[in-house]
Order: sequence, then structure tokens, then C-alpha cells
Amino acid sequence: MPTPTILVVDDEPLIRWSLTSRLAQEGYRVLEAENAAQAHERRREGVDLVLLDYRLPDADGLAVLKKIKETSPDTLVIMLTAHSSVELAVEAMKQGAFHYANKPFDVEEIVLLVERALETTHLRREVRTLRATQARPFSLSRIVGESAVVQEVRALLQKVAASPASTVLLTGESGTGKDLAAKVIHYASARANQPFMNITCSALPETLLESELFGHERGAFTGADRQKRGLIESADGGTVFLDEIGEMVPALQAKLLRFLEEKTFKRVGGSQDLRVDVRVIAATNRTLEDEVRKGHFREDLYYRLNVVPIVLPPLRQRADDIPLLLDHYVESYNVEFRKRVRRIAPEAVARLKAYPWPGNVRELRNAVERAMLLTDDEELALEHFPLGGGLAAAKLGEGVALPAAGIDLEQLERSLVIQALERSGWNQTRAAALLGLNRDQIRYRIEKFRLEKSPAEQV
Ligand SMILES: Nc1ncnc2c1ncn2[C@@H]1O[C@H](COP(=O)(O)OP(=O)(O)OP(=O)(O)O)[C@@H](O)[C@H]1O
Ligand SMILES: [Mg+2]
Repeated sequence: MPTPTILVVDDEPLIRWSLTSRLAQEGYRVLEAENAAQAHERRREGVDLVLLDYRLPDADGLAVLKKIKETSPDTLVIMLTAHSSVELAVEAMKQGAFHYANKPFDVEEIVLLVERALETTHLRREVRTLRATQARPFSLSRIVGESAVVQEVRALLQKVAASPASTVLLTGESGTGKDLAAKVIHYASARANQPFMNITCSALPETLLESELFGHERGAFTGADRQKRGLIESADGGTVFLDEIGEMVPALQAKLLRFLEEKTFKRVGGSQDLRVDVRVIAATNRTLEDEVRKGHFREDLYYRLNVVPIVLPPLRQRADDIPLLLDHYVESYNVEFRKRVRRIAPEAVARLKAYPWPGNVRELRNAVERAMLLTDDEELALEHFPLGGGLAAAKLGEGVALPAAGIDLEQLERSLVIQALERSGWNQTRAAALLGLNRDQIRYRIEKFRLEKSPAEQV
């Protein structure tokens, strides 16, 4: 760990001096500030921990704490208070202080606190890097997010992994992590050391897909000049991941169903029943029930696959995970691109949280990647995220031309408000952000246009 930097903020020179000299003795790099303005100035030099007096000549210590935590949440703060006040201590901890100490304090007590605080972050960082570089590349912890839905998904994946043969159906929009979930199941299961075979059902024409899956005998069709093992056979002992299962043609659906029910199959052109032990995971971004209703997908196969359904939620339904994912990708691109981005501007985070992410986590990852390439700074700002739709809204004025026949502005406004509400699942704060409005302004419009959730959205 590089030498930690500590900033001592106190207006009393004697206190600054005693802390500074003792901490320097411990080998820390120590900076000093006698008021809030100086403290913010010196913080730019990169500070790991702040010892912060509650009473400063130009500001209230809690306000300074709040600002520090907003701009660099990783910086540790220990508050120094002149009189023991429980409320104050509670408030400081709520605002994210690591600890507080009452004046007059024993300098040795402070040294211990500092040591402990730094130890905690050091450990936390170590755990994070360890997790990121774990030998097992697809452990459960690869799935970032603390929202209730994601915790539920993680719990389900773990359960499924523990049951060695159950078939799994992963559904979710594009970019929600179906591929990732399939690999997590495989690598968390007892099959982890056996093959993980993956095929995209939409990528191949029917006959080719069949022979890829089940293999073929020599002479089975023109060009089949030797026998070939299929994917299912090669995966024996492991997992077969059938991606975009919704695109599989009906004839093959029947063969897949037979395999799932009887665990046996024939190579194309073969007569012998072959038996393998594989777990099948299927994925689709379509709604299979709809495909069944339309007659595109066999109902019996649907039920056979749907033994354990796992739904990966779209990102816009778990906006609280967005900051976690942003941090996750900032950290990994810091390593990959050798950058040192330490934070994302709060207004950028707010806009990114409100953006509907039609491409889900994949789109977010790409957005961070691009932002990281664009910046040489320690901070990612709003302008580094030139996303379509929501974020580009500010520029819309230049791009929309008034049709020759004119428009009904009121009607247009109404339609945009409805779209924003639908896209945000009727979350007024997020809908407002999409339109560049505040909550009162969007409430006013909801009343003005007498908008109501449709019954379908109320469930
Ligand atoms: N919860 C998550 N935590 C961390 N990374 C995630 C998460 N969900 C998805 N990702 C990442 O997002 C990217 C896209 O995910 P993935 O390829 O699994 O999506 P998908 O659902 O299979 O999409 P498609 O339907 O387009 O195939 C990958 O880089 C994946 O690692
Ligand atoms: Mg995929």
C-alpha cells in the first residue's frame, strides 16, 4: 500500500501540531488545514483520511463531512468534537464518518483510530481486487447488484447450481446477464471441471444446427465425409447452454424435447441411441409464453424447459444498482486502461440512474468504457457519457424540425410525459429526470393531462 495521506483540519494550531507531528512519526504523509475552505483546497492532493474538527471558523464540520462524502465517498473521516454530544456523533456516523473522538483526546487514541480506519479500507480494497481476479472466473460475486431482485436471482442461481441436473430457463432483455448467469451456474456447480458448451440457436440454419447439437454419422448428408460428435455429446458431464432458444425451428424443438425427456439422442443419420449426462440451460430474450400462443414454440417443450425459470430484471427496474455497476466497471477499466478515475460526478450519476438503459448492463459497460477512454481526469463527468435518448435530451432542441403542417404542442407534451412515465415504470422522479423536469413539474403535468397508470401497469 502506498503511504497513506492524512489531512488534519482544525483551527487550533496546537492541536494541528500535536496530531501532525505524531502521525508523521508513524510514517504517514500529513497535510494541514485551518478552515473548511483550505480543507477542500488541500483535499485535491489526494487524501485517504481526514481528521475533521466539528467547529471551524468558516463552516460547520458536518457540512464539510457531507461534501467530502459526496465527492469522494472512499475518503475516511474521523470527526473531532469539543464536547461530547450523542446527537452530533450519531449525525456524523449517519453522514458516513468512520468514527468520532471527543476533545480533549489522547493523541495515541487517535493514532489507533487512524490505523484501524486505514486497515479497514485497505482490507476492503484487497477483498475487492481479490474478488475481481478470483481464480474461478464466474463466481456468484461476478453478478453485481444489491437490489432485492438481484439478491433473489443470486440466491436462485446458487440453489440451481447445487442441484446437478435440473434444467434452467433464463429469460430477460438483451444485455441483462443471461450468458453470465449460465456460466455462473455451471462454474458454481459440481460440473465446473467438465465442459461448458454454448450454442446460439439463431445463428445456424436448421440442418446445420441439428448436426452441431447432436452430431452426425458419416454419409448422413452431402459433405458429411466423416462421423462427428455433436455439442451435447462433447459436453458429457458438463453443461449445454442453448442461447436464443426462442428461435429454434419446430422440427428441432421436437428432437430437443425427446432428448430432455429421455436423456438419449441419435446422431443425424444414425440409428443408435446415445446417452449422456448434461445439464441444459436455455436462454431467450423473447417471452416464450407469447411464442407458444402464436404457435411458434412447442408448449410441451416450454413446460419441460421452464422447470426452473429465472428472470433477469432489466436495469431500469433496479436503478439503485446503477452506481454499483458504474463503480465496478470504473475499477476494471482503471486496471485495463491504466487510468486513475476515482469518482463519477454526482450529476452524471443522477442522470445515469434516470436513463432507461434499453441495452441494459451491456450498454452501461460500453458507456463506461467509452467515458474512460475519453477522460484523462480523475473524474468522469456528464459530458463523457454521450448516450442516446435520455442523456442527449439537452441537445434535442437543435435536432427536431417543426413539420411544415405544424404540430399540436400540447399533444406532443402529453405524449412525451406518458412515454417517460411508462419507461420509468411510473417512477415520477425518474420520469421527471428523463424530461429535464423536477418532481413538482411532472406532477403538475400528470394532473393537467389527467394521466393514470393503465391497469396492466398497476399489477
Ligand atoms: N448483474 C451483472 N453484474 C455484472 N455484470 C453484468 C451483470 N449483468 C450483465 N453483466 C455484463 O453485461 C454484459 C452483457 O451480459 P450478457 O452477455 O450475459 O447478456 P445477455 O442477457 O446474454 O444478452 P443477449 O440477450 O444480448 O445475449 C456482459 O459483459 C456481462 O458480464
Ligand atoms: Mg447472451
